[in-house]
Amino acid sequence: MAILFQEDKRIFTLQTKQTTYQMKVDDYGFLLHLYYGKKVSGNMDYLLTYYDRGFSGNPYDVGNDRTYSMDALPQEYPTMGTGDYRNCALIIRNHDESECCDLRYVSHEIKQGKYGLPGLPAVHAKEKEAQTLIITLEDCASKVQVRLLYGVLEEEDIITRSAQIVNLGTGKIVVEKAASACLDFVNGEYDLVSFYGRHAMERNFQRTAIAHASQMIGSRRGTSSHQYNPAVIVAGQSATEESGSCYGMVFVYSGNFMCEAERDQYEQTRVIMGLHCDLFHYPLEPQETFTVPETILCYSSEGFGGLSVKYHRCIREHICRGRYSNNSRPVLVNSWEAAYFQFNGETILQLARDAAELGIDMVVMDDGWFGKREDDNSGLGDWQVNESKLGCSLGELIRKVNDTGVRFGIWIEPEMVSEDSNLYREHPDWAMQVPGRKSVRGRNQLVLDFSREEVRRQIFDEICGVLDQGNIEYIKWDMNRSMADIFSSTNFQGKVAYDFVLGVYDFLEKLMEKYPNILIEGCSGGGGRFDAGMMYYTPQIWCSDNTDALDRLRIQYGTSFFYPMSVIGAHVSAVPNHQTGRNISLHTRGIVAMTGAFGYELSLNKLSVEEKAQIKAQIRQYKEYENLICRGEYYRLSNPFRDAYAAWAHVSEGKDRALVHVVMLENHGNMTVNYVRLRGLLPDVVYEEVESKKRYYGCALMEAGIPMPVELGEYHAYELEFKMI
Ligand code: GLA
Repeated sequence: MAILFQEDKRIFTLQTKQTTYQMKVDDYGFLLHLYYGKKVSGNMDYLLTYYDRGFSGNPYDVGNDRTYSMDALPQEYPTMGTGDYRNCALIIRNHDESECCDLRYVSHEIKQGKYGLPGLPAVHAKEKEAQTLIITLEDCASKVQVRLLYGVLEEEDIITRSAQIVNLGTGKIVVEKAASACLDFVNGEYDLVSFYGRHAMERNFQRTAIAHASQMIGSRRGTSSHQYNPAVIVAGQSATEESGSCYGMVFVYSGNFMCEAERDQYEQTRVIMGLHCDLFHYPLEPQETFTVPETILCYSSEGFGGLSVKYHRCIREHICRGRYSNNSRPVLVNSWEAAYFQFNGETILQLARDAAELGIDMVVMDDGWFGKREDDNSGLGDWQVNESKLGCSLGELIRKVNDTGVRFGIWIEPEMVSEDSNLYREHPDWAMQVPGRKSVRGRNQLVLDFSREEVRRQIFDEICGVLDQGNIEYIKWDMNRSMADIFSSTNFQGKVAYDFVLGVYDFLEKLMEKYPNILIEGCSGGGGRFDAGMMYYTPQIWCSDNTDALDRLRIQYGTSFFYPMSVIGAHVSAVPNHQTGRNISLHTRGIVAMTGAFGYELSLNKLSVEEKAQIKAQIRQYKEYENLICRGEYYRLSNPFRDAYAAWAHVSEGKDRALVHVVMLENHGNMTVNYVRLRGLLPDVVYEEVESKKRYYGCALMEAGIPMPVELGEYHAYELEFKMI
């Protein structure tokens, strides 16, 4: 049993293989947090302390006991208006306009299997792999109930949290702020690790002390964003890549989010993950329910590396779905950096012929095949094939591509509309715009109101009309701007940002149902919506619009903290690189792009004979290693923001095989030698390096490392494969 309830003490214990999570309903009915971390035995309620604290409020029913204050006690779901002045998980505006919510225990339920969330992505598991705990709390004055949902995946060391707010009162209420998880620590010093960035430079690692301040990261852009990823690590201050306490919080949502971290007046730490409270005022009529997207919690005492291995498994096995979630992906060539908007049917066909010669499985026709779309200023929303541009019907083009032995994929951007489009001319009110104001444009396009069912339905039907024209086996689903004018002509404004995201999920769910064999790759100007929510529908996401191998090393490094290699779309592109102008060898570009769902993004007909031979070899090699790369354990062996080299390893589950990739980042006169230390091997076993046939003990490779060559030139890449003897 992963979930235990001790009746006499009213203590809930969630046990996983290596972690314990404990909470307690106290004498007043408050749900207090007791412990989360490395597995422990016994009751942890001895950790609670009570002192008279000035200016910290005391609930009325504790009488004269001034030592009892919500301002100091660790809680599961802190709310506004209880005398707790720290950041809270929930703010409700009641029917009488007050903002108090005093939640007390009503009941609980323990069930086999993992709960699901209506209309939202969530961790899924087989019945026997998970258990669910539902704790119902109620504010007795307003009759607002909160159902706290906990999913426990014992073997995976995963605990999920979500919350449902139910209005059982007689008047309308408004949910003003809602989080799904709160972590309260009564002691310890912690850092917040977050991943910030910008378009074409996503997920840079940032580590800051959680100080006496409220630190917040989040997004108000309508999507999870390039700027901050909705996933953080609360790390003990001595935690490193290889050791120390690390708590992960991954939000399974693709829209506005907020993570707040604070060290309080009593040196306690609180971290909250949930929906952003700006642009959000969700009304609930009597009997209505609001569901907060899920947060996936995980703890590792083995540093960032240990945490990453657990999240990779969880997202690969328990978030991604569909035929491709755990299966081999096509190696594809995408037309974007090969031709941008300047292509016709023949260009695509030629790309397919060249792909066939090189062993590439699929050609993807990117932006520019529909409506009037010669650049990015028009045509979005008109999902009709531009046959005069292609020079044939889509069906004919696909047949010809398939005849070369190559599969066919296509790009779409369903959530958008160009003002210069038939769709906009017919339905200007379908775009999100505030009446009486000029819109904020992004890439010269507007966002369709996907909170409206009729809007989604028409776009869905049109896109199906395209998909039904031939043997389309892949879709790249793009989203190329941040939202600004959050407004709907038919919806309550405070709901729009959330309902939009649920509209996107609804569309994707229907698409998956109708086309279960199509692989959908997510994209938002590269990695602007690279989150666990999207991964529920799109088991692969284009990691970044930056294909420069050096920058990608850093972007993929940051991405690897939570997300498995199988979801990271990575392509070899041309040099000089289109985003940076940098020249990096084809060998190194290949090694960097192989850390994920591999492909190409360049004109194949401009390649030399030698380059073609190299690409053929790369594809053979990728196919040989794909299982190890995408489904093995991944270890970061350096920090490319700090070290002179970038190095990482893919280790098989049985630890009998390891693939190590190294890219040198610096070269100086009389260059010093770099030693790469491996991880994840068995210490007392001998491994042979396949090419040199040299043999090493696992412990030697992990403790002392292996010297890398000193060579002239920049960005040399090395590949070492180790096999257990
Ligand atoms: C976005 C994507 C690119 C490409 C273009 C097409 O920027 O990230 O890969 O598809 O759109 O307009």
